Amino acid sequence: MHESFPFKYVPTDDLTEGQRWSTWLDVERLCRGPEPRPDWVVTDRAAIDTELGVIKSGKEADCFLVERAVPDDPDRHSLVVAKRYRTADHRAFSRSESYTDGRSVRRSRDMRAIKNKSTYGRKVVAGQWAIAEWDALCRLWPLGIPVPYPVQIDGTEILMEYVELDGAAAPRLANTRPDHDQLCLWWMQLTEAMELITELGLAHGDLSPYNILGLPDRLVIIDLPQMVDLYGNPAGMDFLHRDCVNVCTWFTRRGLEVDAEELFARLVAVAY
Ligand SMILES: Nc1ncnc2c1ncn2[C@@H]1O[C@H](COP(=O)(O)OP(=O)(O)O)[C@@H](O)[C@H]1O
Ligand SMILES: [Mg+2]
Repeated sequence: MHESFPFKYVPTDDLTEGQRWSTWLDVERLCRGPEPRPDWVVTDRAAIDTELGVIKSGKEADCFLVERAVPDDPDRHSLVVAKRYRTADHRAFSRSESYTDGRSVRRSRDMRAIKNKSTYGRKVVAGQWAIAEWDALCRLWPLGIPVPYPVQIDGTEILMEYVELDGAAAPRLANTRPDHDQLCLWWMQLTEAMELITELGLAHGDLSPYNILGLPDRLVIIDLPQMVDLYGNPAGMDFLHRDCVNVCTWFTRRGLEVDAEELFARLVAVAY
């Protein structure tokens, strides 16, 4: 063991496939999650990230389960989701534009690259989506709005809290069959969260039973890269309305009669 290392030194050769050194210390302070940091967040220099598998591949990003842990130290162990934005050709550029209306791209080189859809341009766009989701999580989490804790962002990769149930990723609402009490609890929690988001002048923009995870005692809203500015985006209110319809349709189908127009009106009232 080399004397100048204050931590247990593992030669890089000891990292096996699917492992890397924890990237925590590689990212700048502003690329780390908000304080107070939950105590499960592993910040040790000696931590190793081990990829445990894919949770889900999506159109724009893939979610992986990653263990960040200090070898042989059960107290410094965590599971996080690595959401990695894709830079591939088939990314939906056209769809993105209605969401980003009102956001600006400052560097003209980036703007040109995006227009040309070059490899660099695709990377810029993937990075912008990652930053947008990161900003949304960092803005909502400190207010107690139920979103995963954002651990760090590194380019096109976000690490966030893994929302787990019985040793697996928590189910999306769409895949649950809640009883009446559970439905009522989730409805209360969801509409309260939507109110808080609307009060900030924002709308999720892609809220649906596929982007909400359901735990017995709470729900967690995920997938926020397209969060919409209600005032800056000319279609802001339309996105908010669609969010209301999507969630109310699901609750009603599961047996809790709720009205999308009523929810929308309630939210519009707190938006101003
Ligand atoms: N923090 C998380 N904890 C547990 N599962 C997650 C988490 N984030 C995402 N997932 C799972 O990965 C899926 C895809 O993530 P999402 O952010 O919705 O990306 P997209 O829909 O753009 O592919 C989710 O439907 C959910 O099943
Ligand atoms: Mg999703």
